[in-house]
Amino acid sequence: MDLEAYRDEFPIFRTKSYLNTCSLGPLSTRVQDAIMRFTGDWNELGASAWHERWMDAIDALAAKYAGLIGAAREEIALAPNVSSALSIVASALSYRDRDRVVTTDLDFPTIPYQWMVRPGVEVDLISGPDTVTMPTSAFEETVSERTVAVATTHVFFATGFIQDVTEIARIAHRMGALCIVDGYHATGQLPVDVPSLGVDVYISGSLKWLLGGPGLAFLYVRRDLLSQLTPTFTGWFGNTYQFEFDPRRFAFREDARRFEVGTPANAAVFAADAGLDIIMEVGPDRIRERTLALADDLIERAEDAGLDVRAPPPGSRTGIVMIEHPDPSKAVSYLADHGVIIDSRGTRVRLSPYFYNSFEENQQAVGLLRDTC
Ligand SMILES: Cc1ncc(COP(=O)(O)O)c(C=O)c1O
Repeated sequence: MDLEAYRDEFPIFRTKSYLNTCSLGPLSTRVQDAIMRFTGDWNELGASAWHERWMDAIDALAAKYAGLIGAAREEIALAPNVSSALSIVASALSYRDRDRVVTTDLDFPTIPYQWMVRPGVEVDLISGPDTVTMPTSAFEETVSERTVAVATTHVFFATGFIQDVTEIARIAHRMGALCIVDGYHATGQLPVDVPSLGVDVYISGSLKWLLGGPGLAFLYVRRDLLSQLTPTFTGWFGNTYQFEFDPRRFAFREDARRFEVGTPANAAVFAADAGLDIIMEVGPDRIRERTLALADDLIERAEDAGLDVRAPPPGSRTGIVMIEHPDPSKAVSYLADHGVIIDSRGTRVRLSPYFYNSFEENQQAVGLLRDTC
């Protein structure tokens, strides 16, 4: 199927140019229908929908996501958002012998926050050379025998730079530390195979490039590590004996569901499942090829128009394109007034083409941006 034909599945394209998947993937009719199926079950069955349909739907979603990233179902837990998934992992680390966590100032701040608030834990915040990229050597220089974990991102949210997480995991492991990766901007737009990345924990969510809307995150924990990580907050979903409702009997599940806490938001489960169907149907390889072609085109057009593009070097680019701007929020509003949806972060506007976008949308966005400079 021609990738631009997917635009028909996303009603927003009837009226707008949407170049903001990085903030929120657009709503598809498939996801809308899935949410209606959920409300239909709720209406038809009431609470019995839980055992008749919804527990299976939760399981099927985790299995589908596991397939996308080359993991086993047993290695996947669901969480309400990326921050919660990170928090429960942070709660399961022992800080007695190692009390430092290495991260960077290009990571989404919810990463350092996890450890800044933990008494007795120090955060080593690496600064890169150019506010766009991060050399792996910076990790090498910072990780020490006091590092309990390196926690960083696969694709940086505000620069689009792809980190070499395989190498970062090697660096962490050589020093006896864990490697925790936020893959929110990688899954969907890049083919991801977690076993070959060699990371210990990999977290993502449905909101952006997985096209499933808010309310659902995925936590992968490497199988061999599961029994070594015991969370210090929990709930009945983490209990092997969940349905005994026995206040005297708790044992963490052996699989990654030990990191689950309570009842998931089921509308989000249905939406995330339908979003994943689109991603798996198109296929991460095709998505990557098309998204990169669009990003390269956007960068070239913007540079030709004299805009101050802050792109990573070719080879480490993704569908996140940042352009320095004297007044980013004014530019975002101006483009919105002309039906073009983009976003901004700090002193830059952020455009994020994805497989369903078109070269014409790039051209229109760059033309409008030039008007604002
Ligand atoms: C890379 C990255 N990590 C984490 C988050 C925060 O995710 P959540 O709100 O699901 O905790 C964001 C939010 O946009 C993000 O871009």
